[in-house]
Amino acid sequence: MSQPADQSRMDRIVSLAKRRGFIFQSSEIYGGLNGFWDYGPLGVALKRNLKECWWQDMVAGHDELATLAGAPSSYEMTGLDCTIIMHPQVWKCSGHFDLFHDWMVDCHESKKRYRYDHLQGRWASHRDKKVFVTTDVSGDDALPDLVGKAQKFFKLRAKQVDEIVWEGELVPLAGATPAEAIPRAEALGPDATEPGTLTEPREFNLMFETRIGALAGDDDDRAFLRPETAQGIFVNFKNVLDTSRVRVPFGIGQIGKSFRNEITPRNFTFRSREFEQMEIEFFCRPDDSRAWYQFWRDRRWQWYLNLGLTEGRLQLREHEAAELAHYSCGTADIEYAFPFLADGEYGELEGIAHRGDFDLRSHMEGKLVRRDGELVLETGPDGKPRQRGSGRDLSYFDDVSRERYVPHVIEPSAGADRAVLAFLCDAYSEDSVPDEKGNPRERTVLKLHPRLAPLKAAILPLVKKDGMPEVATDLYRKLKKRMPCMYDEKGSVGRRYARQDEAGTPWCLTIDGQTMTDNTVTLRDRDSLTQERVPIEECVELLTERLQ
Ligand code: GAP
Repeated sequence: MSQPADQSRMDRIVSLAKRRGFIFQSSEIYGGLNGFWDYGPLGVALKRNLKECWWQDMVAGHDELATLAGAPSSYEMTGLDCTIIMHPQVWKCSGHFDLFHDWMVDCHESKKRYRYDHLQGRWASHRDKKVFVTTDVSGDDALPDLVGKAQKFFKLRAKQVDEIVWEGELVPLAGATPAEAIPRAEALGPDATEPGTLTEPREFNLMFETRIGALAGDDDDRAFLRPETAQGIFVNFKNVLDTSRVRVPFGIGQIGKSFRNEITPRNFTFRSREFEQMEIEFFCRPDDSRAWYQFWRDRRWQWYLNLGLTEGRLQLREHEAAELAHYSCGTADIEYAFPFLADGEYGELEGIAHRGDFDLRSHMEGKLVRRDGELVLETGPDGKPRQRGSGRDLSYFDDVSRERYVPHVIEPSAGADRAVLAFLCDAYSEDSVPDEKGNPRERTVLKLHPRLAPLKAAILPLVKKDGMPEVATDLYRKLKKRMPCMYDEKGSVGRRYARQDEAGTPWCLTIDGQTMTDNTVTLRDRDSLTQERVPIEECVELLTERLQ
């Protein structure tokens, strides 16, 4: 049996994120907006550092002359920054217009909306009353939640809950097959007082809709906020080929906002309605695509480890054939054991998908569907394509082998907000350190990788006199030219260390009485708590080196 979710640890992480200015609820002074989050002063630095690491490690810093371990050959990387609103036909050909939906269920009584696949329940009876009690809580908290709901429904006191007779196991409201779906009239909604208030499931497209132009009115003006950054890359494939010197195999990276009108945003920033993605579309020869898929899976896995995520909390999960999207020849998810999930459960950080030639062909020919294992153009009753593609030739001519083909695509698609959340959760730690008098003091510390830490160092004069602030200011100015750091002279040095520990600052440089006699400072390491004396003129070089 799995352990309960570590909700209290999660609550402490959320509280630190708010208290220290990492993440705030959007529009908080007006009561907030569900599924939207703002990054505060420390949060914006953390998120920018994360995106910068991704861009540097995957795109800008890529060595196109080297063949990286596990890669079939060397390859090139370049980048794009595309618009959030694109031609509506993009989404019709990509399949998002028809297929990008979740099933939802409304409750007439509570006016709440639920994802159909999140509702589950059990039959319960008391005396002559019987009802299917439902919950939208997952994991081990589901059963206790059902007991509470049944107790309320049957109007029982706490000591009477044992009188409830439970039948069968916890099952989805949707049933294992449509024939086994629970009759709505007998289902008690998670927030209802009477059964029969849940609607039949309805499709709900997750794309946010908007209108273009002041005279917008008819259907032709409808546009959508992109639900993924990927499509901007596919529709620019030819532009990139024609205007740069890249040759297959090559990848195009993009970082940007995406929007999904999630039915039930939840778990802090994990499922938001506005979020950022970091996506690569990697174009390769069909023959080599399997090997490239393996390469990207391993490379992206290693990236999270290099930045310090605990390997034991990460998992790489290959999708089962039934789970694959209709165009996909293989997908693996990199998942993290977030503290809000039950023990043994993981949340997706990134998907690495082998997409074949689906995307480029869709934007050439029109919307494709899989029939008898083949991707074919979807046609209407009149035999004409249901959605026309651009008609542009997006094939590639290899001038060495003299072959023409439509490249296959490997797509490592990561979420910046989910990665920030995973790094925050992983870095959060509580321990005990000796204070100035040697007594143990509880501390909360973010053990972020120095590349991710919002501030790399803090410069602290021990006291606000005896020339120490002047020396500290001078050091601060020199270091600030190399890396984000701060000057802090307020409060006891112990409190200042504590503030930096909570912000995840890896190093503190303290200017004290000895500095004034021998020009050395104390360099305190956040994680090991070691304190070493370092000549003041060596500090900037030393920290620059350690940061690299
Ligand atoms: N182009 C492929 C694609 O968009 P996806 O699995 O739907 O694939 C990729 O999304 C990544 O984007 C996810 O692994 C996740 O990190 C992030 N993501 C997706 N939906 C999200 C949401 N509602 N809130 C935060 N991040 C999300």
